Amino acid sequence: MEFKSKDIISIRDFSKEDLLYILDISKKFEKDYDSNLLNGHILATLFFEPSTRTRLSFSSAMSRLGGKVIGFDNPASTSVSKGESLLDTIKIVEGYSDIIVMRHPIDGAARFAAETAKIPIINAGDGVNQHPTQTLLDLYTIQKSFGKLENLNIGFVGDLKYGRTVHSLAHALSHFKAKMYFISPPQLKMPKDDLEQLDKEKIKYTEGKDLSKVANKLDILYMTRIQKERFPDPIEYQKLKGCYRIDKTFLENTKKGLKVMHPLPRVDELCSSCDGTEKAIYFEQAHNGVTVRMALLSLLLKKIKNERT
Ligand code: NCD
Repeated sequence: MEFKSKDIISIRDFSKEDLLYILDISKKFEKDYDSNLLNGHILATLFFEPSTRTRLSFSSAMSRLGGKVIGFDNPASTSVSKGESLLDTIKIVEGYSDIIVMRHPIDGAARFAAETAKIPIINAGDGVNQHPTQTLLDLYTIQKSFGKLENLNIGFVGDLKYGRTVHSLAHALSHFKAKMYFISPPQLKMPKDDLEQLDKEKIKYTEGKDLSKVANKLDILYMTRIQKERFPDPIEYQKLKGCYRIDKTFLENTKKGLKVMHPLPRVDELCSSCDGTEKAIYFEQAHNGVTVRMALLSLLLKKIKNERT
C-alpha cells in the first residue's frame, strides 16, 4: 500500500505486508527520529467521545516530530452543540489542518468523514466498529514481547460485543495464524460478522465464558472493560459489570510466558496487584502508542523511503 495521503479507517483495509511495514517503520522511530520531520504540518484531533491515551499519544507523537496540534476533546464546546453536521465540521477543519484524527460514537462515521475530506482521516474509534491504530500498537507490543506475531494463542476477555479494539485486533491477528479464545458472558459475545470473517480466513477459535478453563493455554491474555456507555439498558450493565476480575494470585497460577494486555482504561477487570509483575505489559503497550503513531503520521504526511522494496 502507498501510505502517503491515505485514510486509516479499518484494519480490514491492511494487508499482512502493510501491517509488517508499519511495524518496521515504528521500530526505526523507536531507535531514532528527526524532531523536525513534521515541522509545518498541523494535526487536528476531533474527539466526539472521551479519550486519554489515543488523543494524547497522537498529540505527543505530532509534537515530538515538530508538528502542531489543534482540536477539541468535547463537542459540547463546539458548534456541534448548535447543530452543526459532521460533514460541515470536517469541511471546515480540513481547511485548518493537514491530517485529522477523529473519534466518534457512530459506527462508520470515520468512513463517512473520509469520503468527504480531501486530507487524510485517521479513525481513532468509531462506535463499536473499529480502532485500527490501537491494533497497530497492540501488534507492535506483541512483536516486541514475543519476537514474533505468528502462531500465538490469545484469549480475548470481557466485552467482545461492544469492544472495538477486539474487533480490530482479532482481524489483524488472523493474518498471523493466531488461535483465538473468546471469553465473555453470553450477552457480550463476538459479533457474528467478525466470526464469519475468521471462518473465511480458516482461523481456529473457541467461545466460552469460563476464563479458568483456557487460561493455561494462552500466550496473551487480552483483557477488556465492559463498555458501560454502549449498553442501551443500564440494568443490563449492572448485571454484567465485574463479571471478570484478574489479580496477582490468578496470574501466579498461569503459565510462565503469559503476557497480559489491556487497551485501557481498566475498571475492575484487572487489579492493580497485577502491575509490576513480569506478565503485565499493558503500560508498555500504552506507551508504544506514541512510537507507532509517530510512524503512522510520518507515513501519511511524508513519503518515507521504503527500504523493503
Ligand atoms: C479503548 C477504546 O476507546 O475503544 N480505549 C483506547 O483507545 N485505549 C478501549 C476502551 O475504551 O475500553
